[in-house]
Amino acid sequence: MTSTASSDNSRSEISGEGSSSGISWTPDSWRTKTALQQPNWPDANEYDSVLKQLRGFPPLVFAGESRRLTAELGRVSEGRAFLLQAGDCAESFESFSADSIRERLKVILQMAVVLTYSAGVPVVKLGRIAGQFAKPRSADTETIDGVELPSFRGHLINDVAFTAKARIPVPARMIEAYHQSASTLNLLRAFTTGGFADLSRVHQWNQEFVSASPQGQRYEQLAEEIERALRFMDACGLDHETVPALHQTEVWTSHEALVLGYEEALTRKDSLTGDYYDCSAHMVWIGERTRDLEGAHVEFFRGIRNPIGCKVGPTASTEQVLDLCEALNPERIPGRLTLITRMGAENVTDSLRPLLRSVADAGHPVVWACDPMHGNTFTAPSGQKTRHFDSILAEISGFFEAHRAEGTWPGGVHVELTGDDVTECLGGAEDLLDGDLGLRYETMCDPRLNGRQSLDLAFGVAELLRKG
Ligand code: PEP
Ligand code: CO
Repeated sequence: MTSTASSDNSRSEISGEGSSSGISWTPDSWRTKTALQQPNWPDANEYDSVLKQLRGFPPLVFAGESRRLTAELGRVSEGRAFLLQAGDCAESFESFSADSIRERLKVILQMAVVLTYSAGVPVVKLGRIAGQFAKPRSADTETIDGVELPSFRGHLINDVAFTAKARIPVPARMIEAYHQSASTLNLLRAFTTGGFADLSRVHQWNQEFVSASPQGQRYEQLAEEIERALRFMDACGLDHETVPALHQTEVWTSHEALVLGYEEALTRKDSLTGDYYDCSAHMVWIGERTRDLEGAHVEFFRGIRNPIGCKVGPTASTEQVLDLCEALNPERIPGRLTLITRMGAENVTDSLRPLLRSVADAGHPVVWACDPMHGNTFTAPSGQKTRHFDSILAEISGFFEAHRAEGTWPGGVHVELTGDDVTECLGGAEDLLDGDLGLRYETMCDPRLNGRQSLDLAFGVAELLRKG
């Protein structure tokens, strides 16, 4: 059994023994620092009252679960497993349905089974799901046809419609995000433990629009081989029905913990250990724009005991990365810190190698994950933001090359995808062209891989893993 986090999120300080930092910290100590990318809530009273409500709500995850995920990520940091972190760029209040959750889960399960079967490594499955509602923006405002409005910051904060009213931050959205996260997580738990993730159903994860494609066919073949292996086990007298690991799996949740008021309100003291956990998700990460060592996000993250991530882009120096490792994981707990690199396909190998070497030399047991999406975004002639499948795979390939050269473990990938048949990223085996982007371009934020492209990517990553 896992421990439960008590609903007490009293403001007692942690310091010294039992704290993750050894330095005094409270769930609200981030408030003394500069917090970038926070909404300008127009009504302070309403904001406070929403946070008060959130503080009274049950935690979404248990501290014990987060500890188990840290242990799994610890295996990734040691080169004994691979991390697949995947899901939406921004979850939506509008496209919230059982179908949409199931389709995203199918793609993640398919990708994981391709990686496990083809490359023979256990895969830790971590969704960008059940809480991925807040977006950092490169500009505070957006101008269309001479009209300037505040930027869309994710459904946790405001709405995507280009009207002045829609762009006003509404604190009550945090309550809705909490409830949608709870329902999403509930369904994920039901799907993954209630039979849907059973390996004998591996064929059924192949969606119709995927199965007709070459990569869908390739997947069918692999699924057939898995079924044959299960029949073989049975024929040998090893009743596969009795092996729980073949019938259920775990898909953990994660999001960028951007809006610190929300995250603080869901941070609870674990009754077993006395440590604080951000119970809004199993894992949370710091974005590229908010990883300032002196900033509020690093302050908040250093005190929560969840496994955490930090994005690392091309401007990060080795000193900055080492300082972040020290600040966020001074005890050097394997699996505590995942560095999610997003360098861009062009200079990934050169940018990464010095970082890999310095972190290894300093003895920091990090998980290295490759986000091949955010360094490879560009605007297509049609005006839509897009990414090319070839650059995405090229960044992952360069990431593997850098790790091979430095003798470190290319621990995982971090991708934006959807289960829907969208046309947002170019290329892939179906060779989506610029002119196709308009067909089903549905994202509220960044372009996502569709089901076929995601599967294609999984086969590509499996090949890179096998080569090593
Ligand atoms: C994201 O992961 O959606 C994101 C905004 O990434 P980054 O912080 O790396 O830009
Ligand atoms: Co994104």
